Amino acid sequence: MQSVGLHEKISCLDLKKQLKQVKDEVFSAFEKVYDNAAFSGGPFVEEFEKSFADFCKVKYTVGVNSGTSALHLAMLALGIGPGDEVIIPANTFIATAWGVSYSGATPVFIDCTNDTWQIDVNRIQEKITPKTKAIIGVHLYGQPCDVDALKAVCEQFKLFFIEDAAQAQGAQYKGIPVGGFGEIACFSFYPGKNLGACGEAGGITTNNEVFYKRFLNLRNHGSVVRYYHDELGFNMRMGGLEAASLNVKLKYLPAWNNRRCEIASRYQHNIYNSKIKMQVQPDGADSVYHLFVVTTENRNDLTYYLNEKKISAGLHYPVPCHLQKAYSHLKYQAGDCPNAEFLSNHCLSLPMYAELTDEEVSYIIDVINAY
Ligand SMILES: Cc1ncc(COP(=O)(O)O)c(C=O)c1O
Repeated sequence: MQSVGLHEKISCLDLKKQLKQVKDEVFSAFEKVYDNAAFSGGPFVEEFEKSFADFCKVKYTVGVNSGTSALHLAMLALGIGPGDEVIIPANTFIATAWGVSYSGATPVFIDCTNDTWQIDVNRIQEKITPKTKAIIGVHLYGQPCDVDALKAVCEQFKLFFIEDAAQAQGAQYKGIPVGGFGEIACFSFYPGKNLGACGEAGGITTNNEVFYKRFLNLRNHGSVVRYYHDELGFNMRMGGLEAASLNVKLKYLPAWNNRRCEIASRYQHNIYNSKIKMQVQPDGADSVYHLFVVTTENRNDLTYYLNEKKISAGLHYPVPCHLQKAYSHLKYQAGDCPNAEFLSNHCLSLPMYAELTDEEVSYIIDVINAY
């Protein structure tokens, strides 16, 4: 086993290393926001909206204050509300469901497959009722979901298709960036995301001008002309400082994503321990590896072993959405989504971020192979 001369533990994500690289540029961008007093919305947000729309090859981006707000507003723009149902995967971060619940609609949780760990399209049809209005496809861990299959179901049953691309800025499905496959796509720019703001932020992408205008309205107190309020709105604007940091970081995102892909490829090709299983990457789904999740029979044992070797592991996620206490009123039972439940009991995330050195990656691989 290679010795890395490790004095420090390798974290699952070390954001400080990325922030250090761009600190001078981000600070001078902050200075401009400060000098222009452009803290809420304003030109830096507009600049980001334009560049991110170009990056995703869509017509419009609307900057908001979080990915969760993006999901909430997506539901409202589509007219989804009380009495409606929205189909989502059981295996996702809980905020996918929050957007649905905030609108007054009910999330309907569907199990994942046992290999890609994405929503199992074959299980959707049995859950469609006259109340079903939409499907949210989640590009989980950075890997695009099965867009064609999900869109086919949406077309057949006249449902909206929404992308939750919170974990997948820059991922491509069949060579096309995520963000323009459905009516609306929702992004998070939470600091730890592949593209993360220095603060909380989110974004909505769409090719539909009507939705675009509605988002401008909804995020800003239901108002386009100041002090005239057309509908019940929200204060969900993106901040200028957050936008300025995103303007700087967006330039680096392709290189950072490439580096994540390189690390993932080394894990995939060089970890040969049969006690470890990895997420299957279908053809045409080019992941940006926000997370590198594996499963193993005895997670506690592997976590302990890695910790002993100064490697931190993450946990995404310990409880699937349908069994979260917040949704106990929906009366799901253990056993309803067996693959998602298996995953939550056996998953573990290996270190994944662009600044991991080759030496660190080799060390992680050697340590896992020796387990
Ligand atoms: C899949 C998914 N959806 C939605 C969100 C919500 O984003 P935010 O934390 O910016 O509200 C996240 C972020 O953690 C996420 O991972």
